[in-house]
Amino acid sequence: LFAQEARFLLAAVGADQVPASDLPEVAFAGRSNVGKSSLVNALTGRRTLARTSNTPGRTQQLIFFDLGGRLMLVDLPGYGYAKAPKGDVERWTRLTRDYLKGRPQLRRILLLIDSRHGLKDVDRAVMRELDAAAVSYQLVLTKSDKLKAGALNARLQETAAELAKHVAAHPEIAVTSSEKSEGIEELRAALADLAAL
Ligand code: GTP
Ligand code: MG
Repeated sequence: LFAQEARFLLAAVGADQVPASDLPEVAFAGRSNVGKSSLVNALTGRRTLARTSNTPGRTQQLIFFDLGGRLMLVDLPGYGYAKAPKGDVERWTRLTRDYLKGRPQLRRILLLIDSRHGLKDVDRAVMRELDAAAVSYQLVLTKSDKLKAGALNARLQETAAELAKHVAAHPEIAVTSSEKSEGIEELRAALADLAAL
């Protein structure tokens, strides 16, 4: 699947701009700056497809990428904190929330968590909301290159221990580094399986 060229389809600012499509979809969600856009780039092998930045709040729209006409990848704005005007953050947070709960073709949400920081209360709140809406999601620990093996493993265990409380969470946690290309091939395989369903 990922041998296909990924192409930018559109950026939605409002709910009415979300594309009508019957492709299966995978969305990338998580706090600002966790590495959502970077993960889209790592998976598609296109370093500059999605725009990344050191400044939290880079992605401010729902960005749709078509992968070979078989899978849609959706890069979402981050939640939690962002260096952007409050009104803008509120608007795109609402847009993101409505999209996540109202998109039947959404096969999975990848909920990204920075390996260094682990789950925050704002992540837990999002997880509870998705549990309640019965929308399935999978946690991804990102930036694994930033931690030593022991610390990373501790983070993984600690995060896994919380999953039992969350009914819509996928039992496996992915661990990735977009920078070092770790865990990327495994995640591609999992997404290819979803696209084939
Ligand atoms: P918003 O769109 O603002 O919500 O952020 P985002 O989640 O899309 O994060 P983005 O991909 O823009 O990355 C944020 C910062 O983290 C950038 O400076 C990236 O270079 C860095 N980053 C992303 N992934 C990795 C990684 O795997 N390892 C390391 N070391 N840095 C990473
Ligand atoms: Mg982004």
